[in-house]
Amino acid sequence: MTIIVTGGAGFIGSNFVLYMLKNYSEDRIICLDKLTYAGNLSTLQSVMDHPNFRFVKADICDRETVYQVFEEEKPNIVVNFAAESHVDRSIEDPGIFLQTNVMGTAVLMDACRKYGIQRYHQVSTDEVYGDLPLDRPDLFFTETTPLHTSSPYSASKASADLLVMAYYRTYELPATISRCSNNYGPYHFPEKLIPLMIINALSDKPLPVYGKGLNVRDWLYVEDHCRAIDLIIHKGKTGEVYNVGGHNEWRNIDIVKLICKELGKPENLITYVTDRKGHDMRYAIDPTKIHDELGWLPETKFEDGIQKTIQWYLSHLEWWSEIISGAYQGYYERMYGDR
Ligand code: NAD
Ligand code: TYD
Repeated sequence: MTIIVTGGAGFIGSNFVLYMLKNYSEDRIICLDKLTYAGNLSTLQSVMDHPNFRFVKADICDRETVYQVFEEEKPNIVVNFAAESHVDRSIEDPGIFLQTNVMGTAVLMDACRKYGIQRYHQVSTDEVYGDLPLDRPDLFFTETTPLHTSSPYSASKASADLLVMAYYRTYELPATISRCSNNYGPYHFPEKLIPLMIINALSDKPLPVYGKGLNVRDWLYVEDHCRAIDLIIHKGKTGEVYNVGGHNEWRNIDIVKLICKELGKPENLITYVTDRKGHDMRYAIDPTKIHDELGWLPETKFEDGIQKTIQWYLSHLEWWSEIISGAYQGYYERMYGDR
């Protein structure tokens, strides 16, 4: 099998590339990534010379280059992680979210139609369902919950999902969609809640909690997400959506307090800051379908996963300090400019 993984230099995509190379020694993995600010090639350093791996620096919106890669590689499967992924940035500047998340998805699917494909998988998010009220803990997102977005980010992801279903129906593109809850784990870019709080706490910097910190997210260890996608691309039914989440809801403030406790830092580092515009209150996934149909269950308990994650940030200081200093952005040129 040849599998194109777009966005494979980002957080979840890189974890997926490493997971696939480890678990499928016969498969060839092609990572196609634009290396935006969120893409970090040093993350893939350990596999750059792997005989079954190829890295292509390319924009999924660049039709000519995408077609060329399909022509060369004749992929069997495409898994699309490439996206602008940060809600706060989408509030500042929605344009690039529409470009990459919607138009880029269309280009990839056009390539799949042109060259033929066994499976196109769209990595989506639970944020397409909007949010749930805090006083209704009995409510969860199912695959039939209506799309009801709040941020330009979630609106762009929902638009892409609609386009995927349209390509499935109109062109019979063999597509699947997964909608996962918040991920955490190694290689998480330090603009997101958990890595940002770990890194700030380590340097005794203020821990900026939006609003009152009462918003709830449903956290899943990144490897459990990778395993879910693995099951869907191999055993999932085309035209279907699968929700992925581990019933692990936490208020933001409690996550930040837990990080302080684990690192032995005082809670008075916590600083309440102006709330995010349109801030979703609660996300909560019902994963019954993927459990019943594909036998998926999360394997990493949150208490273990958060400790592993904190330990990972403690032992990979170079990885995140290069990001904070901006040095990682020259990595591609330094390492591969002349190759
Ligand atoms: P990320 O921001 O860490 O990584 C995104 C990657 O995509 C980067 O490597 C970036 O360089 C690349 N990219 C961006 N624009 C591109 C373009 N035009 N062409 C090619 N590559 C491009 O994101 P992430 O957190 O790893 O999320 C990956 C996917 O999973 C996204 O589609 C996101 O919507 C979805 N998702 C994320 C979460 C989460 O908790 N992080 C949860 C559910 C779903
Ligand atoms: P984030 O990691 O940006 O993921 P998402 O918004 O996609 O769920 O944020 C997770 C939660 O943490 C969200 O409710 C916003 C909040 N948050 C803060 O309180 N402070 C911060 O500095 C960040 C980045 C997020």
